[in-house]
Parts: sequence; C-alpha cells; structure tokens
Amino acid sequence: MASIAEGVLMTMNTGDFRQALGQFATGVCLVTVDDPELGPLATTVNSFSSVSLDPPLVLWSIQSTSDHLGVYTGCVHFGISVLTADQAALSGHYAERGGHNALSEHFITGSAGEPKLIDALAHFSCATHAVHPGGDHQIIVGEVLGFESVEGTPLVFYGGGYRSLA
Ligand SMILES: Cc1cc2nc3c(=O)[nH]c(=O)nc-3n(C[C@H](O)[C@H](O)[C@H](O)COP(=O)(O)O)c2cc1C
Repeated sequence: MASIAEGVLMTMNTGDFRQALGQFATGVCLVTVDDPELGPLATTVNSFSSVSLDPPLVLWSIQSTSDHLGVYTGCVHFGISVLTADQAALSGHYAERGGHNALSEHFITGSAGEPKLIDALAHFSCATHAVHPGGDHQIIVGEVLGFESVEGTPLVFYGGGYRSLA
C-alpha cells in the first residue's frame, strides 16, 4: 500500500502512519463500565467521537488485544467521562495495563450504573447500540441516555503528548 507524505509517494510505514494520525488533536476520555464479575473499570481513550444527534449516538474504538475487549463489547451500559487539563495523571493511570480498576476516590455512580468520573468536563451515560469490526479495533457505538457538562479547560492529546488549550 502507498501513501502520499509531503507530496512524495511512499510505502506505508506504521510509525509514519501513527505520527500522521497524531497530527489530529483530540480530547481524552475515560470509558467506564461496571462489570458483574470484575467490578467497576475505567480505560483511557482518545477515539471518542460524536456520531448522531437524533438518535443521540457516540462511538469509541477498542484495540482487539485489550484484556477487557469482551467486557466492553458485551456490556449493556457504559460511560464516557471527558478529562480536564488538570486530570492528565488520571489519563496515565487508567492507560496502564492491569490498572483499570476504577478507584472509589475517583468515581461516583452514573445514571446507568456506570462509574462517573468526579470533576469531569462532561459525562455521557450510554447503552451499547452496535459493535462493528474495525481492523485491529472494534468500534463501539453507544446511545446516549443522559449527559452533563460543565465549563472548563479540556485535556488535549496531540503529537503523542498531552497539551492544554490554556
Ligand atoms: C491518550 C491515550 C489514548 C488512548 N486511546 C485508546 C483508544 O481509543 N482505544 C483503546 O483501545 N486504547 C486506547 N489507549 C490505550 C488504553 O488506555 C490502554 O492502555 C490499553 O487498553 C491497555 O490494554 P489493556 O486494556 O489490555 O489493559 C489510549 C491510551 C492513551 C494514553
């Protein structure tokens, strides 16, 4: 497969592809679930995106190698908490392999029973609407059952690092 970078046709290189994708600035979220067997879980993601206003749909994608692939693709309800600029440490914490237990000091319970991050910039309570294959990820579409948001400064992920709009 070939791609065009800086006007030059080149063979696709995974590292270059990742670097180019990193040019797209995103927010950072914690996707959460209260699993009947494992308890409350949280995972850092930046693949969150809006999909539809009517019906209200959002999506995120999970890498197929995740320890919790089955939990997130099979759950009935999940949550998405958007991080503020001063919550970068939480992003790092919940991105650690084996470090996804949602600690009670960080969360309260959302309207669909999912963990809801304290002091999040926004939170969406979702019901799983569809799961689609997406290469080495699964794309999870959620119907938003409830949401809340506050004024604040978002945590931004860009070029492989954390940034702030401030
Ligand atoms: C800023 C950031 C964004 C991430 N976005 C995603 C994502 O969209 N989807 C995903 O599956 N993992 C994402 N990850 C990785 C997960 O947080 C976590 O590290 C990974 O799932 C570890 O595998 P595990 O689930 O087996 O513990 C992201 C990590 C960081 C730091």
